[in-house]
Amino acid sequence: MLTLLGVSSFAFVHWRRCSSGSCNDAGFNYGPVHPVTTNAEAELEQYAKEVLDFSSHYGGEGSMSYTMWNAAGAPSVFPSSGDFTHTAVFRTYGRWWEDNRTEQSFSRTPHSFYSQDFLEVAFQEQVFPTSVTILETYHPGAIVQILACSLNPYAEHHTTDVRWEVLWAGEPTKVSSPQARQFCPPVRQISFATNLLRLEVNSTLLDYYTELDAIVLRGVRNHVSSITMPIIAKTTPKMDRDSTGNDVNVGNGYFDKLPYELIQLIVSHLAVPDLCRLAQSCKLLQRHCYDPLQYIQLSLQPYWFLLNDLSLGHLQSRCTLLQRLNMSWTGNRGAVTAGGFCSFIRACGASLMCLELSCCHFLNEACLEVIAQTCTNLQELNLASCDRLEPQAFNHIAKLAHLQRLVLYRTKIEIEDYDVVMSVLSTRCRTLVSLDLWRCRSLSERGLSELMSGCVVLEELDLGWSSALHSGSALHGGSASFRHAARRLSRLRRLYLTANRNICDADLEHIATHCPALERLDILGTRLVSPAALRRLLHSCPRLRLLDVSFCSQIDTRTVQELSTLFPNVSIKKSFTQ
Ligand SMILES: *[C@@H]1O[C@H](CO)[C@@H](O)[C@H](O)[C@H]1NC(C)=O
Ligand SMILES: *[C@@H]1O[C@H](CO)[C@@H](O)[C@H](O)[C@H]1NC(C)=O
Ligand SMILES: *[C@@H]1O[C@H](CO)[C@@H](O)[C@H](O)[C@H]1NC(C)=O
Ligand SMILES: *[C@@H]1O[C@H](CO)[C@@H](O)[C@H](O)[C@H]1NC(C)=O
Repeated sequence: MLTLLGVSSFAFVHWRRCSSGSCNDAGFNYGPVHPVTTNAEAELEQYAKEVLDFSSHYGGEGSMSYTMWNAAGAPSVFPSSGDFTHTAVFRTYGRWWEDNRTEQSFSRTPHSFYSQDFLEVAFQEQVFPTSVTILETYHPGAIVQILACSLNPYAEHHTTDVRWEVLWAGEPTKVSSPQARQFCPPVRQISFATNLLRLEVNSTLLDYYTELDAIVLRGVRNHVSSITMPIIAKTTPKMDRDSTGNDVNVGNGYFDKLPYELIQLIVSHLAVPDLCRLAQSCKLLQRHCYDPLQYIQLSLQPYWFLLNDLSLGHLQSRCTLLQRLNMSWTGNRGAVTAGGFCSFIRACGASLMCLELSCCHFLNEACLEVIAQTCTNLQELNLASCDRLEPQAFNHIAKLAHLQRLVLYRTKIEIEDYDVVMSVLSTRCRTLVSLDLWRCRSLSERGLSELMSGCVVLEELDLGWSSALHSGSALHGGSASFRHAARRLSRLRRLYLTANRNICDADLEHIATHCPALERLDILGTRLVSPAALRRLLHSCPRLRLLDVSFCSQIDTRTVQELSTLFPNVSIKKSFTQ
């Protein structure tokens, strides 16, 4: 069942009449609402009514600032450009958040799959889309795919036959200007009416966060009947079951002369659907395509709209050696059930080391229990944005004794006292290299000092938007804990102090002196840092590549320009509002 996440905004629906010249009205059926019009087709124009699902956002869950919920409703920024809180902003941009562990990427990912993040929005009325316009109000260019779904999220009865069609797909682009634009790519005709769209984005080439203000769906209620959809034969050619007679001495030609390993190598370059198709060509290739060695690692994420219990069941017998599985984004709206997933994990999970399950809303407590029981060697578990998983489900994670990486971003796990977590980490996890405490509201000065006392080999530390830290430092007159942190963490490469308003020159001096390996620093939103302190920092940290000083009131655009000229290797970010 769909849980509507969205903060419902007012539905904006109005009838727009195209002048007969601007609208391709040939062959339209005339809608029931305007039976008398003969030469103009009524086109319905709607803003998104509600945001149903998404993979990430910059803002906090309890807030409206920079959250995906802002994608619903009429535009609030457009035609202005700039960094505004009431827009939809994803969590990352550029390559700054990429992990450089090489084993991380999954092979076999199709070259046409670029998507990093997604956003699903519902509209009031189902239409056959004629255009989709996205108002991008800051750093446009991230949208790589627009899809339409046949399911009406507002219908009382849901069909099990849910289809997704690509309306438009493209490569990520680098738009030279951060200014607002209306992105309105040509859309394909589809054979069903839709009121559920999905945008997929890749912000890799952007200089800063992309901001989306509104999404406009235009379409007609009646299908364009003159366009005949190609009819794809549902029936597959009959298999010659009785083949025993004719495969004597037929052989496989030159393939019989190739060593088994060589064919395995050739087959290993195929994407998963091609592997499945090739398996149907002959017995020799079927054996190769079904060999569990072809499924040591498997990413099903690019096929999120195709995967269901049945296809998962088919893969089961081949995946007995599976070590890394990426099912992120798959199985939603009933396509994969908790039962189907559990049976797959029971059959294929014993050697799993890495399991990516971002946005898998079918997961329930039973699934986590099966993971904990079966995948005893699991080292990495990603449950990002599994925001419908009940809090008690997380208890099973404690049984995973070998975990090295755990992602609980946007889940319902509630940690009341992060300081306790910090003290456990500092005694038990002294070799911790990377820790992301983004928006951990209960983390205080005390917790941070506790962490510093044990975890001194940290290379990455994200303390962005940790609001208690910020008020704590105010209380003690300055941010002693940040200075303490800088002194202890000489290996730091990435440090995010986003929106910790009391970061001051003294803190930067400590960072400059004690963290020579620093590559990325984010001090967005402080009033206390001066240009002189920034300059000293840039001199002392030769490896610095990213410095975000947006909303730092003492650092004006001229300072940024000067420093950028002096330090051409550093991307100095300062966002603007117009
Ligand atoms: C990641 O990159 C940094 C330099 O940017 C390097 O020092 C480190 O060894 C790399 N880690 C891995 C696992 O490659
Ligand atoms: C696998 O999962 C992660 C986390 O959900 C995702 O970011 C990554 O792009 C995935 N897909 C592939 C094809 O590697
Ligand atoms: C995003 O786009 C970049 C640039 O085209 C590409 O290298 C990268 O692999 C894409 N990311 C994903 C997750 O597909
Ligand atoms: C910038 O980086 C290049 C290549 O890493 C290096 O040769 C050059 O000296 C650097 N320039 C400055 C001003 O640090």
